[in-house]
Amino acid sequence: MKPEVIVHTMMSVNGMVDGYPFDIQKYYDYAALLGADGILIGSNTARRGIETFIDTIHYEQPEDCIKPTGKSNKPIWFLADSRGQLINLLHVLRKSQYASDIVVIITESTPHAYTNYLRTRNYDTILAGANRIDFKLALPLIKERYKIKRIRTDSGGLLNNHLIGRSLVDELSILLAPSLVREYDDSSMRQFMPWQHNTALQLINSNDAGEGYIWLRYKVLS
Ligand SMILES: NC(=O)c1ccc[n+]([C@@H]2O[C@H](COP(=O)([O-])OP(=O)(O)OC[C@H]3O[C@@H](n4cnc5c(N)ncnc54)[C@H](OP(=O)(O)O)[C@@H]3O)[C@@H](O)[C@H]2O)c1
Repeated sequence: MKPEVIVHTMMSVNGMVDGYPFDIQKYYDYAALLGADGILIGSNTARRGIETFIDTIHYEQPEDCIKPTGKSNKPIWFLADSRGQLINLLHVLRKSQYASDIVVIITESTPHAYTNYLRTRNYDTILAGANRIDFKLALPLIKERYKIKRIRTDSGGLLNNHLIGRSLVDELSILLAPSLVREYDDSSMRQFMPWQHNTALQLINSNDAGEGYIWLRYKVLS
């Protein structure tokens, strides 16, 4: 059994996840209303977040290599990072007041240098897949090992679309931003790409989220 999976995204009216003034406060305020006990974060998103929002990346300290305590009321962050994109950066995320700890999802192809980095710093890992991450394996392990009932995404187009394409998503939480963004070739910029199959949705609710934003919640039916 997998946890309930919610794709939470802020996007322009034409479905772009970036390229407009991103209201990060609103994004996280509405994310908090979803009540997720786990957050599934894409590796590009995590890198981008560090580059954008952290002014100075401090050197790792010995205490950064120990599992944090005292934040157990916060969600666990599950980082999908089979290629080791976050090597030497995880201590920055581990320090966040919003995460109880970091768990990294890897595969049999993850570089040895990265698995060694994770092991020597006491990061839990979930091994799921041979080459790319197999979320059909990873999600049940997240539920079983960490008792996660509801997980929401923090990612751009690639991870969200990948999960929807594999029928792993139960709900969409969409903050529609009052913008039309020019087209980008980069598919990671585009939310809700076409897939191989149609997906029926049932509206759970729609709310005025202020400043021209609308918050839409849909149950994914099939
Ligand atoms: N508007 C919003 O709500 C919002 C929210 C978050 C981020 N963003 C923006 O989105 C952009 C980044 O989006 P992104 O989509 O490039 O990055 P991303 O969200 O980090 O998604 C990439 C993730 O998907 C995984 N993945 C991709 N293809 C896969 C496959 N075939 N099989 C298994 N796993 C796969 C990757 O795993 P591996 O690392 O293991 O390959 C990686 O963790 C940034 O501009 C960021 O600012 C917007």
